[in-house]
Amino acid sequence: MDQIVIQGGRRLKGEIRISGAKNAALPLMAASLLTADTLSLSNVPHLADIATMARLLAQHGVEVHMNGGAENGFDGGVLDLKAGTISSVVAPYDLVRKMRASVLVLGPLLARVGEAKVSLPGGCAIGTRPVDLHLHGLELLGAEIVLEEGYIHASAPKGLTGAAVVFPKVSVGATENLLMAACLARGETQLINAAREPEVTDLGECLIKMGAEIEGLGSDKITIRGVEKLHGAEHAVVADRIETGTYAMAAAITDGELDLIGARADHLDAVIKVLEEAGVTVEETNRGLHVKRTNGPVRGVDVMTEPYPGFPTDLQAQTMALMSTAEGAAMITESIFENRFMHVPELARMGANVNVHGASAMVRGQPQLTGAEVMATDLRASVSLVLAGLAAQGETVLNRVYHLDRGYEQLEQKLAACGAAITRRRAPQ
Ligand code: UD1
Repeated sequence: MDQIVIQGGRRLKGEIRISGAKNAALPLMAASLLTADTLSLSNVPHLADIATMARLLAQHGVEVHMNGGAENGFDGGVLDLKAGTISSVVAPYDLVRKMRASVLVLGPLLARVGEAKVSLPGGCAIGTRPVDLHLHGLELLGAEIVLEEGYIHASAPKGLTGAAVVFPKVSVGATENLLMAACLARGETQLINAAREPEVTDLGECLIKMGAEIEGLGSDKITIRGVEKLHGAEHAVVADRIETGTYAMAAAITDGELDLIGARADHLDAVIKVLEEAGVTVEETNRGLHVKRTNGPVRGVDVMTEPYPGFPTDLQAQTMALMSTAEGAAMITESIFENRFMHVPELARMGANVNVHGASAMVRGQPQLTGAEVMATDLRASVSLVLAGLAAQGETVLNRVYHLDRGYEQLEQKLAACGAAITRRRAPQ
């Protein structure tokens, strides 16, 4: 197993090209199941989760071709997906357990062939994360759903029918599953209290290119008029706002200065507001974002995670690392996921002072973090330890790096090119 080793205390300076968003690419890939034609996606990041989704789609019968990518600079890959025929409607446990987003094949399979059998994702490191909203929504569209032997067995032999679906809670994945399913349902579907995340909008825009009739993307009420059939399309995956926010915080925590090329400032309003309140300069440029902090530690700022356009839960751990080095205190409240503070004990090993009370964490900034051997627990938690390591005095060794590889393309290369002392090595046995 690999480790990442960081010698902390170096200012970052330079340019980082922002990759396509993993969380947009995954549902876009699942959308290929909706048509027999080729869906061609560009700006697809090279990540373990993308490979898992490609394997899942391949075993449903999708022809997958990946070109270009990391070897050619950071240009992102082009992924051609062609679901000429669906050869299997089963999404097996060994793939679904690796990645919850596998459940996104449920809606498209059901809409295209009237049946899907998807393993229940099970618990995961950041809380129970049920799929009840996905299932209830599909039932409203006429699917019959049975849970048997750990699998969701959904069927709609006569096809799906449009309906009004009111989500009791905002869910990105459930909105995406329903959005895809409704494109091929008979009649009109309304998704009410829908997720407004840019990744949902990116999916919707691609579906429109494929021939879908969708209105209200980016709002909490999306209307879809079902069509007989979708066709192929070309679509470039939207820039990753979470990767952007992570590197903006890397600049801030190292008293550095970074140009984030291709970043979308309009997707980061809530994050930019927090960074500015903390004393970080964030400027939109014609190439993306320029982030700079050169006057010592940031100021403590309270943060609460919320559905978009609120502050993203996927930047909560990174914000905590940043606030661990702030002047003053910061109250960080997690309102989306239970049990998403697993990075706290690891940050504490590096000298962070954090007290958790229920869904809130009181972070008292320290003048200096210190390097330590730490363990990644999930994707965003692991990158928060990288941020802390960049700022810490001495050496930080991060174990269980595979979590990072699920969501950060070329992390060490991107940071090293800006002056970080960061390398990957095989863990000693
Ligand atoms: C997506 C993102 C993930 C991000 C999350 C919230 C992808 C691949 N992943 O995950 O990185 O952290 O949005 O922004 O895009 N819930 C239910 N029942 C359901 C579905 C969800 O109760 O059927 C709950 C969840 O437990 C959670 C909340 O709703 O508390 C939001 O989850 P959701 O938006 O669905 O997250 P994901 O789509 O899984």
